[in-house]
Amino acid sequence: MPIQFEATHTEGLSRLGTLKTPHGAIQTPALLPVINPNLLLIDPATMQDDHGVQAVITNAYIIKTDDALHERTLEQGVHDAIGFNGPIMTDSGTFQDYVYGDLDLDPHDIVDFQRRIGTDIGTILDIFSTPDRSKNQARQDVDETTQRAKETLPKAHDMTLALPIQGATYPQERERAARHASQLEPPGGAIHPIGGVVPLMEDQRYATLTRIILAAKRGLTPKRAVHLFGAGHPQMLPLAVYLGCDLFDSAAYAKFAHDERLLFPWGTVHLNDLDELPCTCPACHDTTPDELNNQPPYERAQTLAHHNLHATMQEMKRIRQAQREGRLFDLVTERLTTHPHLARALTVLQEHTPQLEQQEPTSSKRGIQLLEHTYTTHPQTHRAHDRIETRFHPRGPLTLLDPTQRPFTANAQDTVQALRDRGTHPFFPSRLGPVPYDLDEAYPFSQCLEPPLTHDHLQQQAKKLEHLAQHWDTTTIEPQTALEEEPTHDADLTHERVEATAAYQFGPHAATALLEGTIRIETSPRTGRVRTVHANDEHILSRRAYDGLFTLKLAGARRIHEAIDAPRLRIQVQPDSALFNADGKTVFAKFTLACDQSLRPGDECLIVDPDDTLVACGRLTVTPQEALELEHGPAAKVREGIGKDAYKAP
Ligand code: GUN
Ligand code: ZN
Repeated sequence: MPIQFEATHTEGLSRLGTLKTPHGAIQTPALLPVINPNLLLIDPATMQDDHGVQAVITNAYIIKTDDALHERTLEQGVHDAIGFNGPIMTDSGTFQDYVYGDLDLDPHDIVDFQRRIGTDIGTILDIFSTPDRSKNQARQDVDETTQRAKETLPKAHDMTLALPIQGATYPQERERAARHASQLEPPGGAIHPIGGVVPLMEDQRYATLTRIILAAKRGLTPKRAVHLFGAGHPQMLPLAVYLGCDLFDSAAYAKFAHDERLLFPWGTVHLNDLDELPCTCPACHDTTPDELNNQPPYERAQTLAHHNLHATMQEMKRIRQAQREGRLFDLVTERLTTHPHLARALTVLQEHTPQLEQQEPTSSKRGIQLLEHTYTTHPQTHRAHDRIETRFHPRGPLTLLDPTQRPFTANAQDTVQALRDRGTHPFFPSRLGPVPYDLDEAYPFSQCLEPPLTHDHLQQQAKKLEHLAQHWDTTTIEPQTALEEEPTHDADLTHERVEATAAYQFGPHAATALLEGTIRIETSPRTGRVRTVHANDEHILSRRAYDGLFTLKLAGARRIHEAIDAPRLRIQVQPDSALFNADGKTVFAKFTLACDQSLRPGDECLIVDPDDTLVACGRLTVTPQEALELEHGPAAKVREGIGKDAYKAP
């Protein structure tokens, strides 16, 4: 059974998905607690019942080298042997080889053994590429790991294989490793763990860890789940999910319990440093540090392990909920600011906003929230700036409105009208940068919660506006000065708003093509908001109420198609699919041939056949890379097709 991983994008590179295994599906992101069959603090069935654990990981090397366990596991299968009926992943012994040195392990045997004990996801014997490896050594580690993956892959038969990404601290090597691994096709499917990172986490080198994960993600195919080996401290899980890791495994809950330490999302605390337990989980709610100190060591370790696992699983739930609510970035920044070492990762995030922006949807039913210290890192800030700078080209001078007058349609309509009548373009200052007044009611500007702008921010915004003016070859002006001029014309603010929104979504040339001819705009009698746009009596655009953005009608798509050359704004599909899509049916990724790389999930798009014949218009639901690489699931929702009778295949 080839494994199936399906996921949808949330913020940054994060995703919510489902990983199907022979023992059931795992909702991702998910954490797999490490089970050491010789050293159980919590038995796996209790993990499932009391902690909501969906899947576990255990170690094939440990099982294989223990005579009794070896026999029993071969006989009963790993699920019965450890007493867990959900999905089980096994690791290969690579980590033990790194810790104890030079274990005599055979890469073929270990994969074969994992298949024979019936594990759901087995791991190859990769080379643990430690952070102190030189670039040449790292290259060798990557090559050797790739070679082993290729050679031992046939031994897996239809077992899913974990093919780890190594490469020490070198982003280039990590990316190269990821590209190689992505090309391998085990019959039972694959997941990709990022390996060799435990020493980095032990040394709290989160900036390096972040760079490594981002590099691996650049090379990895989006169709497979990504695992982060040895990560399980609740404090860093939101970051790892944000960077696009779907699976985690960790022995931290048990290791820290043996050391009498408690895990919390804000850090680790030693039992001796606590006068009371700052937790109400089932393990903590009716006990005290004193009572725990009086327990026998093993019992105490068990209680602490329960607390630690609880804290970890709770953080995973919190993460998934934050993803659903569009609040993951907030959670990430909250956790990263709990410790200076973690805070270093923020700088790396900031350096990588273009990568982090690529998968984030262009719209959401919920708004975004920008926080004081982090708004410059937010991918939406980067996107807004980029789209405004490249898709607008105001000819007259630019001016800044007073942000306290938002919403401007209610509080500053006369000022805006007077400015526009004099050829001046009003912008409003926000944490997302200076935004054209016309986009005030469109996502993300309309639903962006942000702290009040201070005097410093306003000065920054004035500078940014200056920069934009230079870029567009125009000037800036104070509103009062602009208003001293005589009006030169009577501006149609509704029409301008339509033009600006179309330019923001589709680019300036497409906007011009859309709005050629006689334009009629229907507005809501109650709110005055745009509802539909008609050009020469053809319905070309509708405004979506929840995000203020346009959806494209077929007549609009035709205009864009005529004016803008391929591949811009297009997703190209096979002729069979084109016929289906012309009939109004969904575009499946399996049938996509090409996709405009500048599109983002949620963008409106044209659906064309290999001859660039327009067959439908709709909305991209995945990234352009996914549209090309995914083997299952939709790539775009069709809104309107030309009709199957109107389509002639090439
Ligand atoms: N456990 C922690 N790190 C690693 C790694 O790099 N490879 C494998 N196979 N297991 C691990
Ligand atoms: Zn607790």
